Amino acid sequence: MKKIQLLSAVNASIAGNIGADLLAAAILEKPDCLLGLATGSTPVPLYHALIAKHQAGQLDFNQVRSVNLDEYVGLKGDHPQSYRYFMNEVLFSKINIRQENTKVPDGIAADQNACCEAYESQIKAWGGIDYQLLGIGQNGHIGFNEPAAVFSRRTQVVALTASTREANKRFFDRLEDVPTHAITMGIGTIMTARKILLVCTGEQKAEILEKSLFGEIDPQVPASVLQLHRRLTVVADEAALSTIRLKHPEAF
Ligand code: F6R
Repeated sequence: MKKIQLLSAVNASIAGNIGADLLAAAILEKPDCLLGLATGSTPVPLYHALIAKHQAGQLDFNQVRSVNLDEYVGLKGDHPQSYRYFMNEVLFSKINIRQENTKVPDGIAADQNACCEAYESQIKAWGGIDYQLLGIGQNGHIGFNEPAAVFSRRTQVVALTASTREANKRFFDRLEDVPTHAITMGIGTIMTARKILLVCTGEQKAEILEKSLFGEIDPQVPASVLQLHRRLTVVADEAALSTIRLKHPEAF
């Protein structure tokens, strides 16, 4: 098996710094690069580190483009739990990226299938994703691609599993308020990215990280497909690495 590029960090904040260095290098190399971005808790330290570089005058986002992985169906971009809102608040409003160069799937599109096709066309029109940032769900999901019988192909509308809705409940008042569906880039789309950066932090992710990187490649563990990507970098903190350190000390 090919050795995975696995970078260890003492904690989530350092993992964010390492991830930000990798994305910053990609932006410096190609100022108009297309970044695939993620929401959730994991990328927040990385986004803070990118903002710090920008504020220090080291990083210019003027020509950078971005496509986000996913969005809840039914939430408008100004809904505080929408992923568009999250991206604006956490990152876009704090750097000099142009709003028109940032795309997040439209959660309230009247024709959702057309919206998915348009998203794929946009990615192609922008020349494909140069660097895709990913987090991982505790069930191994990437984007909102949940465990399934086959790996999903392109951007599509998906039903969220009970476990994902339960995990995301913390951001809503009640479980009933958590949307039941989302639009997500497909796994096929994610795999077309030239480079992938998976960031994983926290002890609660240790088992699924080990399973994803060292287990069978199985659509029941969506992130396991990443083993097939030629330029995957994993940045994880010690808590998330604990199972890998036990079972695969040779990985380091
Ligand atoms: C978010 C996304 C999800 C998250 C995953 C982990 O855009 O695509 O797959 O990366 O649910 O979420 P956190 O980081 O909150 O543990």
